[in-house]
Amino acid sequence: MGVKSKIKHLVSFLLHGEARPVYAEVSYLRADNRLAGKKVIITGGGRGLGLAMAKKFVAEGAEVLIAGRNEQTLKDGASLAGCKYLKLDVSNPSGFNTFIEEASKILGGANVLVNNAGISLHEPTFFDVTPETFDKQIDTNFKGAFFLTQAFIRHLKDGNSKGNVLFVSSETGDTMDFRPYGFTKAAVNSMVQGLAYLFRKEGIRVNAVAPGITASDMTGIKADGSLNAGEYATGRFYLPEEVAETAAFLVSDASGCISGQIITCNNAQTINARWK
Ligand SMILES: NC(=O)c1ccc[n+]([C@@H]2O[C@H](COP(=O)([O-])OP(=O)(O)OC[C@H]3O[C@@H](n4cnc5c(N)ncnc54)[C@H](OP(=O)(O)O)[C@@H]3O)[C@@H](O)[C@H]2O)c1
Repeated sequence: MGVKSKIKHLVSFLLHGEARPVYAEVSYLRADNRLAGKKVIITGGGRGLGLAMAKKFVAEGAEVLIAGRNEQTLKDGASLAGCKYLKLDVSNPSGFNTFIEEASKILGGANVLVNNAGISLHEPTFFDVTPETFDKQIDTNFKGAFFLTQAFIRHLKDGNSKGNVLFVSSETGDTMDFRPYGFTKAAVNSMVQGLAYLFRKEGIRVNAVAPGITASDMTGIKADGSLNAGEYATGRFYLPEEVAETAAFLVSDASGCISGQIITCNNAQTINARWK
């Protein structure tokens, strides 16, 4: 029995007076093996949310390659997750085509890209933002993700393959910010919708998870008592594993009819409510 059975439904209907067959592919996926056949590149997969996704995806049957700047972090992450790794600096687009080719060779044909690598420089005030901090965050979170996605989709199209791209946005992408970090995530959200629409007829889906405040090096929050947060909907911040669950669904065929969506993982914390 295969890990997932795809049932082809043949539907006939009358159009302009003649019967036309319509095929719809519906995926019935078995829990714990929802990502069989997925060959996933995760940027920034050596630690934090990226590593949690790598572990989850491998547990769901995917073959995964994590990428980042630090070889030791990647080695450690790959051994924890049971995956492959390759060095990459997402703020330097010059080597992206070569990277995608190499990663694809290692995986035997990449069909999912997760743009997770990101930085937040936490400038304390508006006046602490400098051209350097501005460029660094734009180059990593936005420009890098754009050009890596361009190289990846070119690779899919060259191979006449279907696939999907998942961005890791943020709840800040949909709320106000006075720092570049939030601007990069708002730009990512626009890109998700634009690319999803552009490739909607080519079997290429593009979505995002937009996490709330989550335990990681970026936030300095640990998976212990420091998760407590009275002001949050849940009374606590999130674990990377919770974001990874949503991410697994979005890269799986179970979400085959979902594209251009930004799924916020914060229990409605940033909903624009009519009454508070
Ligand atoms: N934690 C949160 O509360 C939260 C909330 C919303 C969204 N997010 C988003 O989630 C994503 C992951 O963040 P995290 O919380 O897991 O942060 P993290 O623990 O600091 O991890 C960041 C990851 O990005 C990689 N990275 C940074 N710059 C890179 C570059 N130039 N090239 C390649 N890789 C690079 C790092 O790898 P190396 O340093 O080894 O290169 C690391 O693996 C980010 O996009 C972040 O904006 C996080």
